[in-house]
Parts: sequence; C-alpha cells; structure tokens
Amino acid sequence: MTHKAPKDLRSARWFAPDDLRSFGHRSRMMQLGYSEEDFRDKPVIGVLNTWSELNTCHSHFKERVQDVKRGVFQAGGFPVEMPSLSVDESFTKPTSMLYRNMLAMETEEMIRSHPLDGVVLMGGCDKTTPGLVMGAISAGVPMVYLPAGPMLRGNYAGKILGSGSDAWKYWDERRAGNISDDEWLGIQGGIARSAGTCMTMGTASTMTAIADAMGLTLPGASSIPAVDAGHQRMGADCGRRIVEMVWEDLTPDWIITDAACRNAAVVAMATGCSTNAVVHLIAMARRAGVELSLDDLDALGRVTPLIANVRPSGRDYLMEDFFYAGGLRALMKQIEDRLDLSALTITGKTLGENLEGAVVYNDDVIRPLSNPVYEEGSLAVLRGNLCPDGAVIKPAACDPKFHFHEGPALVFDSYPEMKAAIDDETLEVTPDHVLVLRNAGPQGGPGFPEWGMLPIPKALIKQGHRDMLRISDARMSGTSYGACVLHVAPESYVGGPLALLKTGDIVRLDLANRRLDMLVGEVELEARRAAWQAPVPRFERGYGYLFQRHVTQADKGCDFDFLQSDFGRTAGEPDI
Ligand code: FES
Ligand code: MG
Repeated sequence: MTHKAPKDLRSARWFAPDDLRSFGHRSRMMQLGYSEEDFRDKPVIGVLNTWSELNTCHSHFKERVQDVKRGVFQAGGFPVEMPSLSVDESFTKPTSMLYRNMLAMETEEMIRSHPLDGVVLMGGCDKTTPGLVMGAISAGVPMVYLPAGPMLRGNYAGKILGSGSDAWKYWDERRAGNISDDEWLGIQGGIARSAGTCMTMGTASTMTAIADAMGLTLPGASSIPAVDAGHQRMGADCGRRIVEMVWEDLTPDWIITDAACRNAAVVAMATGCSTNAVVHLIAMARRAGVELSLDDLDALGRVTPLIANVRPSGRDYLMEDFFYAGGLRALMKQIEDRLDLSALTITGKTLGENLEGAVVYNDDVIRPLSNPVYEEGSLAVLRGNLCPDGAVIKPAACDPKFHFHEGPALVFDSYPEMKAAIDDETLEVTPDHVLVLRNAGPQGGPGFPEWGMLPIPKALIKQGHRDMLRISDARMSGTSYGACVLHVAPESYVGGPLALLKTGDIVRLDLANRRLDMLVGEVELEARRAAWQAPVPRFERGYGYLFQRHVTQADKGCDFDFLQSDFGRTAGEPDI
C-alpha cells in the first residue's frame, strides 16, 4: 500500500495552487472561520449524514457526527459534515425503495464534485446503507461505513416486542378482536423506544451486517446498539481510521472484491437475512464490477445454515441480545471456514485478522453449526413459468407445510383492490388458495413497495389461520414472515408471465426443486400473452419518469442502468 504525500491529496487540487480559483476556495474556507492550517495539507473528510427529523432511526446522528469529527481532528484530518438525502423507511411513500438510487446518485455526485479525500457514511435505516455504499463505490474515494446501530428491544407489559414482526403479529390478533384499545396504545409506544434501526434481523440489520462482512465498517460495528456508549466510541474510531485510510490510499476497489461480496452473501444467509438483501447486495456488487447472480445466492443459501437466532427467521431473540452474545464478529467466527478470510477490510487487515479473539457468549443466540436454527440458509430462489428470471422466498420464515403446495390463484391487480377484498368477510377463499398481487414491482408499484406479505383474509383469520401461500412481484419488509414468494421477475407491469395468471388457475410451489409454476397450457398462455395490453406509464415527468425508464428488474438489483459500472466511461475528476 502507498503512503500519500499532502501534495497528492485530492483536496489539494482545490486548495494548493497559487491561482485565482484556489484563492477563492481558500478564501471561502476562511469565511467559514478556518485558518489555512486547519485545512491545508490535511485529508478533508466528508461526513455524509443522513439525519433528518423524519428519520426516526437516525435521531442520534446529530450528536454522533460530533464523535466522528472528534476522531477526524485527532488523527490530523479536517471533517466537513455533508447533509445527505435521508431515505427513511417509516414515512417515505409510496416506498423508500423509489429513492435508494436517488441517494446513490447524490452520494456519488456530492463526493465527486467536492474537495473530499475520504468519506464516513452515516446510515442504517434500510435503503440508506445500499444507497450510500453504491454511490461511494462509484465515486471511488476511501470510505468507512458507520452503521446507525439497532434500537433497544421493544417492551410492553412484560413482553418483548420486535420491530415490524410483532406489529404484524399483534395486528392479526387485533383484527381477530383479541386486543383492546388500551393494549394497542401500549404496544404502539413500546415497540420502538430508542434511537436506532429496527432491532429484528430486518433489512436494516441485514444490510449493516452485509457492510460489516464486506469489510466496510470497523469490525463488528453493525451490532452495537445505537444508544450504547460503545457506539459513540465507534464513531470516533471511524473518524480516526478514515484519515489513515486516505494516507494509505485504501480505496473501495481494494475491499469490495468478488471474495468480499461472497463473504457478505454467506453472512447474510447465516443471519437469516431479509429478502431485500438479495436486491441490494446484487446492486452493490455490480457497482464494484462483481457479477453476483440470483443463482449464486441460491447456491450459497443451500449450504449455509442459519445460526443467528434472531427474529423473524430465528425464534427467540433480537439485535440487542445478538450484540451481548458476541455480535457479528462472533457469528462470522462460527462460520469462518466458509468465508474467504484473506479479504482485505477498511482496517487495512484481513477479515481473518479482524476475527481473531471473537467469542460467542451465548450459544442459544448465536448457534454452533451443530445446532442451527435452520439447516439451510434463509433464502431460496425459485424459477418456473411464473418467474423465468427468478423469485425469492424465505423458507425459514414460513410454515413448512407450504414448502410444497398446489392451490387455486386469487389474483389482485392493485393494492387497494386486494385490501378491500381481504377485509370483506364474505370473500370466497380457502386456506389452500394462493393470494396473488401484481403490478407491485420496480415499475408497477411504482418503486417496488413492501406489499409482499399480503394480509390473510379476515374470514380465514377468524377461523384461526395465520399463514397461506402468497405471490407477488413486490418486496416485503425484512421484518415480515410467512409463505410469501416475492420479487417475481420479470414483473407483471412490463408483461412478465405473472400478468397472464387468472383467478382459479392452479399454482404450484415446489421448494425442494426450486420451482414456481402455473399449471396452464402453453397454447392458452400464448393466447393470453397476445391479448395482454401494456398499462399506461405511471409518470410523465419528474424523478419518477427517470426511474421508470432506467430501473432494472429485481434479479439485476434495481439499479439504474446508466449507473452500473459497465454502462460507460465514468466522468472522472472534475475540472477545477
Ligand atoms: Fe428504519 Fe426499520 S424503520 S430501520
Ligand atoms: Mg424495513
């Protein structure tokens, strides 16, 4: 590894020359109250902060950024906080996924256009991790990812509550008439009670674990609860480390390699990852020029046991327990013979070196390989005449009786249509029916919303049923569970075969053979295909217009085609 001289810093192009433009840059720094010795010849570190008053998971970032800056100063760098698009999961409609790529574009362009030598990326709530990382990969300066950390365990009336997962569970009980108004209010106040990301192994915890396993965070950083004092110390460590990385010129292409992406996939499977991991991991890998396919993920899933006993795939625990049990380093130690330990990380050391001394403190939370939560990994990829480009299911999170299932389809073309039918107690539906929602994919949703855990019809809820086979081209929340087939590709909105399915057609799921088919003859399908009409475009202006023209399908990661690394020559460094 090289050691940069101050004159080789990227920021020196802005600040060093004795010319009029650089005079302007230096003068404007002095306008901010800095002396030349504050910023000249020092690594300028952009601290990209996704804080906002509507991002409930990042409410501690306003203080945490001070810890990062403290570390940067101590190591002889110069930190600048850069507010970044705060894609929050709770309030962003129609879905935060519509804006992941916007954050990625913003991140890349803000880094490229400013005098930054390195960045600390502050994210955590679902889409912020892939959005920030995708953009920073393309920008190419050294980066450290600072994960927000999970919130504390939920609590109500002596019961532990898990984000999302328990909301769905108790909502079904409320619909069945088993929960009073007062109890419901108590659950509402108890299920999210501190700063931090959802504390189940939902999308946030999965994606920060992936960043950790890829070597983009300080080792084990993803497991530290947001409000733990250790999280503040980790923030300062991130600040110190990024300054060293700039001098070392440790850019992301050293770290995000084929090995790192495969390590991340294996760790995701062992944690019982969110189905969303598939989409984001593929998108992140492709930004780094690494081809990771759905079939690669399925193959890794088949041989990786799920050992994190964290809800919703695990039965008993939450992220706070996972941290006390040793956290992600301890989990990776358990599966180290399945990882490429030679992968370089942001510490400048290999993954193997980072795992030295990691210990499991509670082997019911982080299970040994001899006693996994589930023998095979968390995700399976299906193919068949309903999903020629793939679909995803989380076998560990559904009733095993659905692993092979045949039943008649009950098809809905839109979310409102589905919702009205589900709440109608006279709906003709049996537990064997297969609920289908379409027009809910990347373009159809639009933005690939988390509608895939279709609610169980009220009529069946009252009979005591809590799971049934459901199929959609949507995603589902990482905190969801049930027999839900997701990400059907190509999506129905662009004419994928899901668009041809009719109510009453028999659908067959055969998990062992990774098949999902409609039992409809090819002649009949051809007739339906000829009669299919493309829906009108959802957007005629604005960001949505850009999105619908350029978003790729689920199996390709839903990046914009023109942002992928193989699209064309990159802009390179700006003229100054
Ligand atoms: Fe932010 Fe779940 S809402 S991580
Ligand atoms: Mg989520």
